[in-house]
Amino acid sequence: MAEMKVNPYDVEGEVDYDRLITEFGIKKIDEKLLKRIEKIAGEIHPYLKRGIFFAHRDLEKILDAYEKGEKFFLYTGDGPSGPIHLGHYSIWSFVKWLQDKFNVELWFQFTDDEKFLYKNMTYDEIQNWTHENMLDVIAMGFDVKKTRFLVDTKHAGLMYPEAIKVAKKITFNSIKAAFGFDGSNNIGSIFYTAMQTVPIFLPNILNNKNERCLIPLAVDQEPHFRLSRDVVEKLGHMKPSIMHAKFMSPLTGVQGKQSSSGSGKSILMTDDAKTVKKKINKHAFSGGKETTEEHRKLGGNIEVDVACQWLKYFEHDDDKLAEIYDKYSKGELLSGEVKKLLIEKINIILEDHQKRREDAEKLISKFIYKN
Ligand code: TRP
Repeated sequence: MAEMKVNPYDVEGEVDYDRLITEFGIKKIDEKLLKRIEKIAGEIHPYLKRGIFFAHRDLEKILDAYEKGEKFFLYTGDGPSGPIHLGHYSIWSFVKWLQDKFNVELWFQFTDDEKFLYKNMTYDEIQNWTHENMLDVIAMGFDVKKTRFLVDTKHAGLMYPEAIKVAKKITFNSIKAAFGFDGSNNIGSIFYTAMQTVPIFLPNILNNKNERCLIPLAVDQEPHFRLSRDVVEKLGHMKPSIMHAKFMSPLTGVQGKQSSSGSGKSILMTDDAKTVKKKINKHAFSGGKETTEEHRKLGGNIEVDVACQWLKYFEHDDDKLAEIYDKYSKGELLSGEVKKLLIEKINIILEDHQKRREDAEKLISKFIYKN
């Protein structure tokens, strides 16, 4: 088994989330925090209860401020180098829940510069993905009045003066250590962390405010912010708070993360119902036994069965999920039957998403930040 590696540009080996908490110096989201969130939001999102959003930095500070009547804003983003899949969807559906429950602004960064620098793709290809991905982000249903898109190359005039202030305080050595870079990496990629740092405080500069920032992200993005949180403070801004999500696994096994390349391993937001059925039936790793007879006798393994694990994201009813797990582990439910339940859930989500996506084009200009 490969050594565990988790950074924005490399996720390898078996991810041990407890070890990540120690290595990154982040904190587990515990019962006490869950209770606090529930009290404020009026409910608790299944992803919090189920440990999908599992860790944080300074989340208490956001809740303290909110309870005192202060607003905060949300910041998250997308690297546009391919189609949007269910891994993105799950994170952003949680971000939408936060926006709705706390009634706050969301600043959404499209890092077309990052993907151009890191991927073997042309500038035009990246621009095309930026456009396509915007349609999916809009289709998530974010409130157009409270959501602002920042596109790194388009808002460069606003971002660059701030990015150089950040860049001046980060050394090449710390970038090398955080991302495993050496002398062969291009110089743009070394600078890039500065661009991802700017939205932590840019909204305050633009709106002449002083609000806290909360960043929901998949845990592989943490190294950027570990490098820049202190820098932000040195520049006179508040350190951001962060909520970290585990990776949604590929279809082919419970380890690793979904990616937009390798089409059989992930479900895309634009897949039609038939494709979803085919992909899941063909590729979803099964925790079932070799034969039906054996499965009925010995039961299946929930922990390695991808359909069972994915249902954590899409079956929001705790009782139903518990029942499925119980029956599957006793052998009363077969792998094919669990897959069928999953396919139905996902296809409802996708049908809805695709309808909203069709109407998204005309909203793009409303979402893009204008000053
Ligand atoms: N770098 C991220 C990606 O490749 C995109 C991103 C930019 C982001 N800013 C962010 C993700 C803030 C989470 C939070 O997908």
